[in-house]
Amino acid sequence: MDAMEILTALGTPEGRADPYPLYASLHEMGEAVVIGPGHVMVVGYDAINAVLRDPGFRVSDESSFDEDFPSWRSNPVFVQAMDWILNLNDPRHARIRSLIAKTFTARRVAGLEPAIASMADRLLDAMAECGADGGAVEFMHDFAYLLPVTVICELIGIPEADRERFRPLARDLVGVFELHDVTTLPAINAAAEELLAYFAELAARRRAAPRDDLLSDLLAVSDSGDGRLTDAELLHNLTLLLVAGFETTTNLLGNGLQIILTDPPAGDAVRDGSVPPSAFVEEVLRFDSPVQLTSRVGYDTDLRGVPVTGNTEVITLLGAGNRDPRRFSHPGRFDPMRPDGGPLSFGGGAHFCIGAALARLEAAVAFPRLLRRFPKISAAGEPTRRETFLLRGFEALPVTVA
Ligand code: HEM
Repeated sequence: MDAMEILTALGTPEGRADPYPLYASLHEMGEAVVIGPGHVMVVGYDAINAVLRDPGFRVSDESSFDEDFPSWRSNPVFVQAMDWILNLNDPRHARIRSLIAKTFTARRVAGLEPAIASMADRLLDAMAECGADGGAVEFMHDFAYLLPVTVICELIGIPEADRERFRPLARDLVGVFELHDVTTLPAINAAAEELLAYFAELAARRRAAPRDDLLSDLLAVSDSGDGRLTDAELLHNLTLLLVAGFETTTNLLGNGLQIILTDPPAGDAVRDGSVPPSAFVEEVLRFDSPVQLTSRVGYDTDLRGVPVTGNTEVITLLGAGNRDPRRFSHPGRFDPMRPDGGPLSFGGGAHFCIGAALARLEAAVAFPRLLRRFPKISAAGEPTRRETFLLRGFEALPVTVA
């Protein structure tokens, strides 16, 4: 197969279900592979790292959108997304990211641990009740989806009473990451508008009566009056925190459980403590990354022998880098105790995931609790995959717990 054929195969249901043999073929072609005029796919671990850390490679921002999709301003979701730090280059990126990072502190994340544990236990109680008769329980909906969205609500400071209304909106908005079909845009735009209106109203409440939450802290920064963070930048990046942090973590939980269901000793090792939860989580991230790729716009340079220009779209295939045989011995082997860890799943460089510590904490709290609570957890039928490629995960993962 040549690179184009591999790319086509990656788009098929079989390729999406198991892209790893196709990644292995790409690795044989080099660290960077031309996949068509103006398009380069980077698959080598070191090369991906180098691209993400090189400020010459920029994210596709407002100026690219103006060229490729001039009517973007009539879509509320893109008006918000063009303020998301994910889609900003310096100097705006550095300014806004540093302000968000100041409120998204290690102390605040670590302080969420007891809340995460009790939320996880509540969801496990509900799963136990639902599956007490030996019937199937749907892990993706009943646990993997509910835990991260509840945690992010807790972090931002969204009151419990509002969370039910909030979850389906968050789910619709995530659709913007894989927009193949413009007929889904109206629903995404509607969710974007409703979330924005909700955040504006919540911000007004927090301004009147601040609390110990991320929203109150961000408001304090934006209200300090020196123009460091506008109201729109603040509200728009709140919707980013929501979408960036929830389906990704959902998929980390689902992908990890699927590994356990197909390889029970991997679960036993976490249950009996012989593998630390954090090591298990790192290996899940490497072995089956919830985010398979990100992309950059090139500049005039040479990328592992491949010429790149300012018009080249550079796709960094994180999921392939995580299986690079030049970096990992036996990359297809799930081994939480491997000495050569260090997945690329949270990216690298200036845009490195701001929520990495939170996602790691959620999964490291959740897996041992789940496994100890349900020693007999096993698959109850075939899992169903999400039809997405960038975000890799399951739609449904039925299990029995009794
Ligand atoms: C397993 C879960 C997660 C994965 C695999 C993941 C992955 C990533 C990746 C690969 C990037 C970099 C994208 C790029 O370089 O273009 C990123 C950025 C980001 N992530 Fe995450 N993420 C996860 C969880 C979270 C959580 C829980 C939050 C927030 C609560 C979050 C918020 C963000 C934000 C705000 C950015 C943009 C950072 C910037 O552009 O400066 N993520 N994430």
